[in-house]
Amino acid sequence: RGKRAFIAGVADDNGYGWAIAKSLAEAGAEILVGTWVPALNIFESSLRRGKFDESRKLQDGSLMEITKVYPLDAVYDTPEDVPEDVKANKRYAGASNWTVQEVVESVKKDFGTIDILVHSLANGPEVSKLLSETSRKGYLAALSASSYSYISLLKHFLPIINPGGASLSLTYIASERIIPGYGGGMSSAKAALESDTRVLAFEAGRKKRIRVNTISAGPLGSRAAKAIGFIDMMIDYSFTNAPLQKELHAEEVGNTAAFLASPLASAITGAVIYVDNGLNAMGVGV
Ligand code: NAI
Repeated sequence: RGKRAFIAGVADDNGYGWAIAKSLAEAGAEILVGTWVPALNIFESSLRRGKFDESRKLQDGSLMEITKVYPLDAVYDTPEDVPEDVKANKRYAGASNWTVQEVVESVKKDFGTIDILVHSLANGPEVSKLLSETSRKGYLAALSASSYSYISLLKHFLPIINPGGASLSLTYIASERIIPGYGGGMSSAKAALESDTRVLAFEAGRKKRIRVNTISAGPLGSRAAKAIGFIDMMIDYSFTNAPLQKELHAEEVGNTAAFLASPLASAITGAVIYVDNGLNAMGVGV
């Protein structure tokens, strides 16, 4: 049987989540995705209308199939956690069962188990503010959406991930080096995510022999990155200063994810793997 993957954080064909889905599909996995509730309608209608068909093309000419799209808001664990104003919001009212616990229950009902869990989502409402000017609310929101969301997904999925399975997330070097512009507590959120990767690797490894890794990716002009505002500059900086002076393709992150999820990586867990043309290794820009 082919492996089954759940990828949280796919809402268009530009981001790392989509590229990871494609590489996993290329390797024969069945693809389920979790799409942020407010982005669900446009993603599903674009998918239906064939807007992504060009980017769905696999090497053998066939199109990647997404077996099922689940609405998801990874900021809420159970229906009791959802505030009234969100429940009433018309971008949410049309969908149902989108808290983490409910999504996992639905996946269990539909498919029983999964083999691969991918977390490719982040959100920081005050990302454009300096860390020193970030509010408590903004900081905690960044941690909730970008770090705890991974703990919650893994916690709820763990009982239905097959032993020997793998889980991974996406991080950014702003966790360990100063990247001015990556504000609002997003740098803190990535530091937490990387630390949690190690502790969760221990816990999931001992419990079920499941591996937990994170990919520290270089800059990509995704929808989320464009919202931060400095992405073109970061892409230029990387092109100029990295050991490999080439564009970074989302597919290269996708292929690393497929490797990490496969038995080829059977002894790799608790690791931060850089996929950034080597930029992390530089001490100064030249
Ligand atoms: P993206 O826009 O393709 O993906 C982010 C996704 O998160 C979107 O689909 C959005 O709808 C979803 N999302 C936001 N809040 C959510 C919530 N509460 N519940 C469920 N989904 C939610 O952008 P990108 O850049 O591909 O981001 C994927 C991951 O890669 C993120 O963790 C990001 O921090 C990381 N990353 C991105 C880099 C870049 O330069 N683009 C560099 C290094 C890491």
